[in-house]
Amino acid sequence: MVAFLLVEGVSCFLICRTTRLFGRISVQELATSTKMSQSDVILSDEECDPLDPATCADFTLLVCRATSCSKKRQILQLDEFATYGALYNRRELASAQHVNIEESTCLGSCQLAPCVGVKHEDYTGTVALEGMTDNEFEKRVFHSVITDDDVDRVWGCVENAIRIMTNEESDEEDAAEYEQAKGEYV
Ligand code: FES
Repeated sequence: MVAFLLVEGVSCFLICRTTRLFGRISVQELATSTKMSQSDVILSDEECDPLDPATCADFTLLVCRATSCSKKRQILQLDEFATYGALYNRRELASAQHVNIEESTCLGSCQLAPCVGVKHEDYTGTVALEGMTDNEFEKRVFHSVITDDDVDRVWGCVENAIRIMTNEESDEEDAAEYEQAKGEYV
């Protein structure tokens, strides 16, 4: 299910919780089907409120530092901390310091190194996010995170998930308050 919102004249798409982490709708598909750019589909800082710190704290980015990913960075003449540093930089730019970033052991997609996984505290293991390729979605890991565009895509997917989760929690709180208020009038 996709909800279409107009926020101060800016078109934004939100994807409900049931499809958010494990659904099959990708940012690319949304952009294609709606003839919008991917940057319009993924909410950006300029267009939205700051990321909610509590929701950010539920997310952890896992940067693989195991052998294949480290070797691939070497072959590409990237610094061993290049992936970690690039994601750290995106996090700072988004003022999302509560998002955790950790180095990890092998994420299981060595042939498509360097890899990045995303954990959410409500789920076991890494999660799949909109914006992943089909293969990434299946493995629940971002593959070949090499260029700035790759890092932007990873961060965009994470930021999108944080915003959706924040909105859902807000909706759930509103619904709970409504039910409570209704009960008081009965
Ligand atoms: S070494 Fe990084 S995914 Fe296996």
